Amino acid sequence: MVENNDSMDFGAERQREIYINGMSGALTHVPVDMERLKRAAHDALAPEAFAYIAGGAGLETTILSNREAFNKWRIVPRMLRDVSQADTSIELFGKKQPSPFLLSPIGVLELAHAEADVAVAKAAASEGIPMIFSNQASKPMEETANIMGSTPHWFQLYWSKMDDLVLSFIERAERCGSSAIVVTLDTTLLGWRIRDLDLAYLPFLRGKGIAQYTSDPVFLKSIEEDIQDAPNAQRRVTPQSVRALFEMVTTHPGNPINNLRSGKAIKAVQKFVATYSRSSLTWADLPFLRENTKLPIILKGILHPDDARHAVDAGMDGIIVSNHGGRQVDGAISTIDALPDVVEAVDNQIPVLMDSGIRSGADMFRAIALGAKAVCIGRPYAYGLAAGGEKGVREVIRNFKADFEMTMRLSGINRIADITPDAIRRVE
Ligand code: FNR
Repeated sequence: MVENNDSMDFGAERQREIYINGMSGALTHVPVDMERLKRAAHDALAPEAFAYIAGGAGLETTILSNREAFNKWRIVPRMLRDVSQADTSIELFGKKQPSPFLLSPIGVLELAHAEADVAVAKAAASEGIPMIFSNQASKPMEETANIMGSTPHWFQLYWSKMDDLVLSFIERAERCGSSAIVVTLDTTLLGWRIRDLDLAYLPFLRGKGIAQYTSDPVFLKSIEEDIQDAPNAQRRVTPQSVRALFEMVTTHPGNPINNLRSGKAIKAVQKFVATYSRSSLTWADLPFLRENTKLPIILKGILHPDDARHAVDAGMDGIIVSNHGGRQVDGAISTIDALPDVVEAVDNQIPVLMDSGIRSGADMFRAIALGAKAVCIGRPYAYGLAAGGEKGVREVIRNFKADFEMTMRLSGINRIADITPDAIRRVE
């Protein structure tokens, strides 16, 4: 599946391709510029879909600071250092990848494009870039794992109230060849997302983004049982409620008429709402996970150095410094600001990754200079998917590879290990 793994001239190749195509009047499939890419996604999507993807918690100040905080750090390029060759590859948990980034887990990708996770997996696999499958994916992990082939994929878990479901998800991830489990810790409750609240739109209530559940034997068995504690998603019969019901029965696997008659689709949504997250989770629960999988466990959502130390003490294998793209706690620290203290606390014992706000090769470079082993790309690939399907995602991935390689070489560096704190300066 990996086509470009050996080529370490991503930057020049991508530039050449774009400029030569331009000679016959062709532009890229989706914009290279991030703001224009976002606008293209906006124009392609229904208002609720765009709001769900682009929006964040509260006043969205964390989304803003995730970007602005990068500007405090400036790269100081070095000269005359033979950068004719460069190697941007890294190894993570024993697996090599061509560039130091992965695709963040993003749920409900069917909002962006009908092919959803399948299109993303095809693009990621063709570029050898690892993908983290979301717990809230629109396609079952087995389907996307099949597409990923030999390109690494990880499974991201939301710790459900049902321990047997947690175990089932983990077993399935192991069986379909995922090479790590990412436990997202920052979403024990859904953030206060004003755009979604004003549109009164939550995709899960329409049966979207619950494919890992509706493909799971433990979950399916559980929805046969009576549900008493789930809130009713629908209260009045209106054209909108009929549409929501239609979405629910057509999204649920199997025949829509049977799904309606049996009440299965509605039960699945109710059961999901009642169980998707356990807000009582504490550090004392981690041994349960540790004992039940041999895969590396990575904690996503760590921002405080003490939590990073706890992760190491709990025998975890990695950390993703993340504020969920500003979707959970408005006013939360930006991840590039949180990263140095976490890196110091971890003291090289386990790899530290970072996401939230990465929009360019220079962002990748600065995160790595501050001690990240790799970064994860989130919204940009979702926008690529919305604006251009699989091809759009592939272009976004290629642009990140190219931009990062160019930044590294033009800064006088030709291998990742040499991107050290000395390559950047903090400016006030
Ligand atoms: C997310 N994110 C996310 N994280 C996770 O662990 N599981 C998930 O299912 C989702 N779903 C999701 C949906 C959407 C629409 C977005 C935008 C984000 C968070 C994601 O993994 C990542 O942390 C952020 O996207 C990073 O921020 P930026 O760089 O996208 O702004």
